[in-house]
Amino acid sequence: MLLRERGEPPAVVAHRGHSAQAPENTMAAFVDARRAGADWIEVDVRIAADGVPVVMHDPTVDRTTGGTGRVAGLTAEEIVALDAGSWFGPGFAGEPVPTFAEVVEELGRRGGRLLLELKHPHTRDDVARVLGMAADAGLTDRLVVQSFRPSILADVAAVAPGLPRALLTTTLHENPVAVCGELVLSSYHPAAVDVLERPELVDALHAAGVATMVWTVNDEALWPRLASLGVDGLISDRTADLVTWCGG
Ligand code: G3P
Ligand code: CA
Repeated sequence: MLLRERGEPPAVVAHRGHSAQAPENTMAAFVDARRAGADWIEVDVRIAADGVPVVMHDPTVDRTTGGTGRVAGLTAEEIVALDAGSWFGPGFAGEPVPTFAEVVEELGRRGGRLLLELKHPHTRDDVARVLGMAADAGLTDRLVVQSFRPSILADVAAVAPGLPRALLTTTLHENPVAVCGELVLSSYHPAAVDVLERPELVDALHAAGVATMVWTVNDEALWPRLASLGVDGLISDRTADLVTWCGG
């Protein structure tokens, strides 16, 4: 599911949905990503004050909605009532913040692969609840969970041992292959610039059976360079452009 065959283009991962064309992490962005031909849809999940998983990148609602406050300090009912579209453009006014349940229901029904990012913090119970929703929606076979936090991935392993896990990094580990072995990861997700600086990394990870997806690649000049290094997925805001570049 993650390792690409030799000669195949990298998978197109729609970062927060088709976020170049629609407000990030909304149903509008996810529906547009599918329409554009994304292989994967990347979604950020946080836990609201009442324990309900909602889809939001930042720890506060301030940047992407008309409201203010911490996600963890607001109930899901308060969060979904916010306008998450107007900041992006008047055509999206009133677009709500989706709950995770809504996203997996739609993905389960309409198809598509989910790259699920669990933002810090998530307790083990939170992780179990989120993954239970994905499983109930029929997504288990088209789901990869990623996080910047190894502790969250350890909880994923505990509650869903067979589920593919990926570690996001802001700084490359000295020995990423060893880290992937220790954490039993299916994929390693560094920043694109780090892979370009260590071009041997992708082959080394592949030799260990670990895929590589890189973020967040909006500069089209980097797409062929990263593809030639063998990366398995390009995580980008520019879903439609990347699909076209990959050959449709
Ligand atoms: O999928 C990679 C990327 O989403 C990680 O960074 O901050 O956009 O969640 P961020
Ligand atoms: Ca993310």
